[in-house]
Amino acid sequence: MSDSLPSYAIRLQALHEALEDDFRQIVRHLPDQSLRAIDVGCGDGFFTKLLSEVQAEVTGIDNSDAYLKEARKKSGAVGNIRFVNADVCDLPFDDGSVDVVWSAHSMHSYPDIRKALREFRRVARPGGLLAVLESDNIHSVMLSSPPDLELAIRQAEHREIGDEDSYIGTYFPRFAMQLFAEAGFTGFRREQCLITRFGPAAEALSKFVELYLKDLLERTEKLLSDKMCRRLGSLADPRSPEFLPHKRDFAFSSLQTLMLGRASE
Ligand SMILES: C[S@@+](CC[C@H](N)C(=O)[O-])C[C@H]1O[C@@H](n2cnc3c(N)ncnc32)[C@H](O)[C@@H]1O
Repeated sequence: MSDSLPSYAIRLQALHEALEDDFRQIVRHLPDQSLRAIDVGCGDGFFTKLLSEVQAEVTGIDNSDAYLKEARKKSGAVGNIRFVNADVCDLPFDDGSVDVVWSAHSMHSYPDIRKALREFRRVARPGGLLAVLESDNIHSVMLSSPPDLELAIRQAEHREIGDEDSYIGTYFPRFAMQLFAEAGFTGFRREQCLITRFGPAAEALSKFVELYLKDLLERTEKLLSDKMCRRLGSLADPRSPEFLPHKRDFAFSSLQTLMLGRASE
């Protein structure tokens, strides 16, 4: 249990603000609606709120008190939402009592992904839906950066990513089919949603890209040359003429993968 927001919270919030309508469309696309849903790893409740627009009732679950406080504040008076502090591997629900299990952008945060998926299977009713939304690290954000800089950054980023566990979490869509089956989910289906924006970015997206590039620089600067660091710093600096989101030919894409499975009968 942590009592302060993680360092990525501001960046994630900026992403939500920039792409809210796209994420809403993804949630509205779920095949099962008007049911009892849980949003595991709910963070600030962004997806809990979107789910509450299409489900009968939603419980947001997280093990961070700071995030739950934020989630309660943001969801305000929405009547069919509640939030509970619990661990992903010990959900406070009876066996087979949940219609829809949702988890977004959290796999890399869970300490044991296989155990989490088995817990999702335990609480899902037979035939119930598991819906996991993730990007993978290579395609989570694609920008119109100069190619030589992009290649250097990506090489550095992937050297920095680390061991096999984070590899599965960071590239979850590539492992999902097998992991869903191992946990007892059948009928695996995957949908890929490419979210794009072109031309000088609106304020919310500019903010997200600035924070994203600054985080990238922080994570990779030890592995990049001084020149590459300076160039990346300029792309991320709103006062620089090189600030990427303000460029006329700016392009942003994010590949989101929605993975669906059904709890075996
Ligand atoms: C990257 S955030 C995503 C939050 C939210 N789903 C979203 O898309 O904005 C990952 C979330 O998983 C939560 N989390 C990490 N480990 C957890 C655990 N063991 N049990 C429950 N929640 C956990 C974190 O507190 C955080 O809120």
